[in-house]
Amino acid sequence: MRDTAPQPPLDHIPPGIRCAQDYEALAPRFIAAPRLAYIAGGSGDDATVAANRRAFAAWSVWPRLLRDVRQGHTRLALGGQALAHPLLLAPVAYQQLVHPAGELESARAAQALGAGLVLSTLASRRLEDVAALAGPLRWFQLYFQPVRAATLDLVQRAEAAGYGAIVVTLDASIQVASRAAQAAGFQMPADCRSVNLAAYAQASARALAEGDSRVFQGLMADAPRLDDLDWLLGATRLPVWVKGVLHPDDARMLRARGVHGLVVSNHGGRGLDGAPASLAALPAVRAAVGPGYPLLLDGGVRSGGDAFKALALGADAVLLGRLQVYALAVAGALGVAHMLKLLREELEATMALAGCATLADIGPGCLSPALPGAPGESAPCC
Ligand SMILES: Cc1cc2nc3c(=O)[nH]c(=O)nc-3n(C[C@H](O)[C@H](O)[C@H](O)COP(=O)(O)O)c2cc1C
Repeated sequence: MRDTAPQPPLDHIPPGIRCAQDYEALAPRFIAAPRLAYIAGGSGDDATVAANRRAFAAWSVWPRLLRDVRQGHTRLALGGQALAHPLLLAPVAYQQLVHPAGELESARAAQALGAGLVLSTLASRRLEDVAALAGPLRWFQLYFQPVRAATLDLVQRAEAAGYGAIVVTLDASIQVASRAAQAAGFQMPADCRSVNLAAYAQASARALAEGDSRVFQGLMADAPRLDDLDWLLGATRLPVWVKGVLHPDDARMLRARGVHGLVVSNHGGRGLDGAPASLAALPAVRAAVGPGYPLLLDGGVRSGGDAFKALALGADAVLLGRLQVYALAVAGALGVAHMLKLLREELEATMALAGCATLADIGPGCLSPALPGAPGESAPCC
């Protein structure tokens, strides 16, 4: 399969885009098939990717009548930062796969739309350059490195560059592309690299003794453990969030350990295939950490209606993974900013029709399990 982009990113918003999810429908025109398979895919049989989407379709939103929402807004405070809306850009590695300027364009869009941005350790652009362009809520997503000195250096660079929090991802110690993505033959191109790791020696494959497991003694040898998290909490002055939490016991433990907030996430289905949908796990995590503790959600959010459901089930805000990449591929910063604007308007329209003037009005009582005949998954509208 050819790995060259069918069409370069546009310098304008294409006509006919009417909802945020239309960017997903347009992506195949702008992303070569093997790259698209790598981005869209999860792991294994993509069971968790599918579950993430199904979980949103399992809920309906109650329309409410005669509510005065003329003072309505979507403002919130997150990590001490005032935000105009609860839509953040998720950490997505190697954005140069879909746009020559990669993460720089996403950062410009975040700045323009007042959206928070979480930059991946595996960004294809320098974290300092991205920080200079992003808006006030910019956080750094950390993958523990095999050598602690390298992890510390990354954290200190993030602090010096003005990132406001460290979001450590703990659910992806093993990542194997789904069977569909492997069949598409994706190979990381030589010109797309994790530039922020270039200065650090990378671990060479561990020599296994006879009888050792390639998984337990191999792939998992450098996976983070509890003492790594405790070390991180003491090594940075920044608040530490953990991304990749699904089990309520983990959530309770992380809160007790001093973690500032959690991202309820299954890595967009790219970690453990068969893990529950993020949305399905959210209510139990909220119950475990209690009200008021910061919780974000990602995984399958494709519309403002989806964001509303996540907020209703206990999230303070949502992160956008693949939608961000698709919009970036279609029209760079302009596309990402437009996608965010559409999503925000979709959220506002859902709030208004559900009788919610502010995010504080959104709660579990706004939802009903989807009734027979209720609308299923929203189809892209172009
Ligand atoms: C191509 C791709 C690369 C990703 N890279 C990272 C990463 O470097 N770090 C991380 O914590 N999560 C990463 N994620 C997961 C996202 O942060 C997020 O959890 C997920 O995409 C949310 O699901 P959604 O794509 O359905 O919105 C990646 C996801 C995709 C699709």
